[in-house]
Amino acid sequence: MKFFIDTASLSEIKEAQDLGILDGVTTNPSLMAKEGIGGEENVRKHYKAICEIVDGDVSAEVISTDYEGMIREGEELVKIDDQIVVKIPMIKDGIKAIKYFSERGIRTNCTLVFSAGQALLAAKAGATYVSPFVGRLDDISTDGLSLIEEIRTIYDNYGYETQILAASVRHPMHILGCAKIGADVMTGPLSAILALLNHPLTDSGLAKFLSDHAKVNK
Ligand code: E4P
Repeated sequence: MKFFIDTASLSEIKEAQDLGILDGVTTNPSLMAKEGIGGEENVRKHYKAICEIVDGDVSAEVISTDYEGMIREGEELVKIDDQIVVKIPMIKDGIKAIKYFSERGIRTNCTLVFSAGQALLAAKAGATYVSPFVGRLDDISTDGLSLIEEIRTIYDNYGYETQILAASVRHPMHILGCAKIGADVMTGPLSAILALLNHPLTDSGLAKFLSDHAKVNK
């Protein structure tokens, strides 16, 4: 399973990249706003800076919600760097835009997906990635991981090549659940990835190894 990080913070992306396990980055307008990135030129520069840190796909989301606007924005975004994937919302014009881009070899990430039906449409339109939001479904007492399972079944039934990018991942159990189901990619905060490191037996085991070593190496 590929690990993407869901942030627009350059320092966080750098930290994840330095760990050596990062496969890509996803951003969204809220994450860009959190970093204070506004204005066309600043946005372009910021995406370029992200692409220079990470060695993998970088999802950049369009703001337009009409077909022509999404095409215009997407075509500008992909000029920034070859790593850019155009992130498009799951709405009617979005599906049309995904189809347009897939016919031209431009990669897309269909975002804000909350049902298997939406994921089926994204695959039929030729999306490179589909982003079902696991955590936001859990937030409304609906099992987010079950949706990943449903989409996996549907895509495998028909051999769709669209990759399942489990998004809105919040903690290590989400990551493990996605891995068991066979999501192609997961995206979440660095904290969720780093939490995979933790085990009390690792900590106590290491402390014991080091203290035993110290006893004979005074
Ligand atoms: C998807 O690509 C979104 O950027 C993201 O995963 C949303 O996560 P959140 O629900 O934690 O905001």
